[in-house]
Amino acid sequence: MSILDAMKQFEMMPDHYKGLSMGEMERRVAAIKEKFGSRLLIPGHHYQKDEVIQFADQTGDSLQLAQMAEKNKDAEYIVFCGVHFMAETADMLTGADQTVILPDMRAGCSMADMADMQQTNRAWEKLQHIFGDTIIPLTYVNSTAEIKAFVGKHGGATVTSSNAKKVLEWAFTQKKRILFLPDQHLGRNTAYELGIPLEDMAVWDPIQDQLENEAEHNDIKVILWKGHCSVHEKFTVKNINDLRERDSDIRIIVHPECSHEVVMQSDDSGSTKYIIDTISHAQPGSKWAIGTEMNLVQRLIQEYPDKQIESLNPDMCPCLTMNRIDLPHLLWSLEQIEKGEPAGVIKVPKVIRDDALLALNRMLSIT
Ligand code: 13P
Ligand code: SF4
Repeated sequence: MSILDAMKQFEMMPDHYKGLSMGEMERRVAAIKEKFGSRLLIPGHHYQKDEVIQFADQTGDSLQLAQMAEKNKDAEYIVFCGVHFMAETADMLTGADQTVILPDMRAGCSMADMADMQQTNRAWEKLQHIFGDTIIPLTYVNSTAEIKAFVGKHGGATVTSSNAKKVLEWAFTQKKRILFLPDQHLGRNTAYELGIPLEDMAVWDPIQDQLENEAEHNDIKVILWKGHCSVHEKFTVKNINDLRERDSDIRIIVHPECSHEVVMQSDDSGSTKYIIDTISHAQPGSKWAIGTEMNLVQRLIQEYPDKQIESLNPDMCPCLTMNRIDLPHLLWSLEQIEKGEPAGVIKVPKVIRDDALLALNRMLSIT
């Protein structure tokens, strides 16, 4: 189900929550957490706002959050502070007696919406016609449960930005070629890291229904779905050049959803967890520019005043959908649980879940 379809079916937060003071909301959230204890779990992705993350029981990148969801058998309610695909993943990895809730159904991911089932079925048919049975599909976890199910059914796996290299290596032991959905940048950056030249990668355009480049078909090893992250595409080579001109000592670290040119010009790249670990281990006094979502960059600036940290893009880049989850929505979803009327429940239908789990579990067993 696309995020737009999902939204139509769900109740929205009543307006009066927006008028509450921060102190009042914090008090009420804390009281419900206290009352429910281990029956309630609040996982929070690193891109969440501070007003939300202060109440997270667990924080992590998308791989860690998936692993934590899989391990937790106690929580009756999992109020997922992240985006829709992460909550779907948590639902699929938890038990039937556990309820996963997304506090605002508008918290989608524009990249995940760049690959739908009709486009994927059409692409698969055409690619099978061109390349025969030589392709294994992989999907970034930033995709709908239907796309994960498609990938699972065809022998493939999901990947996250922290395990993409390992999963691609595994995939090449299975088939000669990879179809990588839906983020062309993570696919290209990872394949390049594995030594695959850019000439051996092709881009599949799901709008035009065709391969974009003219490379000899037989040489193509990776077919990259033409999707991208609208937050990470805002980091440019010009940002890097401007910074280096201003300060030749600065180190630049970016998320691999940035373009290949940006990743190549940077000093380092990795998942949100990798970025956090790198900054936390860096020397006091060191200077860093970070190319990822604004809330995480701002949190790192606050947490490490002994290091000089800034955003690679001086205009800062927010993920608007991640930011939909705010304190009023968190409070509303907790109070709905307390009333016995949970709202924003994420339930992946069994027919999709079974195949999607094949893809998720393959990834989890590889990493
Ligand atoms: P991580 O897997 O690094 O947490 O990234 C998730 C994401 O959506 C980045 O845009
Ligand atoms: Fe999706 Fe990009 Fe937001 Fe990550 S930062 S959730 S990829 S839109």
